[in-house]
Amino acid sequence: MSIRLTSTKGASRLRTFYAGLGFMLTEYIAPDESSLRGAFLQRKGNPHDIVFFAGAGPRLHHFAYLVPEVHHLLRACDVAGSLGYGREVERGPGRHGPGHAMFVYFRDPDGHRVELFNTHYQVIDVENEPVRWDPADANVSFPWGLPAQRSWFEQATAFEGQAITAPGTSGSPLTLERYLAEKA
Ligand SMILES: [Fe+2]
Repeated sequence: MSIRLTSTKGASRLRTFYAGLGFMLTEYIAPDESSLRGAFLQRKGNPHDIVFFAGAGPRLHHFAYLVPEVHHLLRACDVAGSLGYGREVERGPGRHGPGHAMFVYFRDPDGHRVELFNTHYQVIDVENEPVRWDPADANVSFPWGLPAQRSWFEQATAFEGQAITAPGTSGSPLTLERYLAEKA
């Protein structure tokens, strides 16, 4: 791979460790080649099996489950609404920039976040170069529609017994709250 992320120690360690387990980088978010905000890694030709983002951690942001078609996302929202869980639809339905999948995020009764998303591309050629996204590109957050609310960026599940440390920098995401305030 042609990218160099060695000046960010944690990113370099992460890539070395997961490359040793057979993971390949498909997409990454970085303002330049010397810092890393997000890394999408895969083992079976799909866009990603595990994703890391810069932020307070270690924490688990969400699990994601695949659904065959876009209408299944709407069906899940309808079921949530009819069962009284409509307020737990935290983000979406919408489309991701990296990965290009359609998605919707829910919070379960314990507050953990779960994503449903549909099928997207396959990485056929192992020599495909990873795609870099500039965090300044508005399409990273949301190609259309509305950005995620602040809770989506800030809240995640802690691991028992693991101290959480704040990042040196994670940028300042465009939240739904800020987006609407600036539009008003
Ligand atoms: Fe996800």
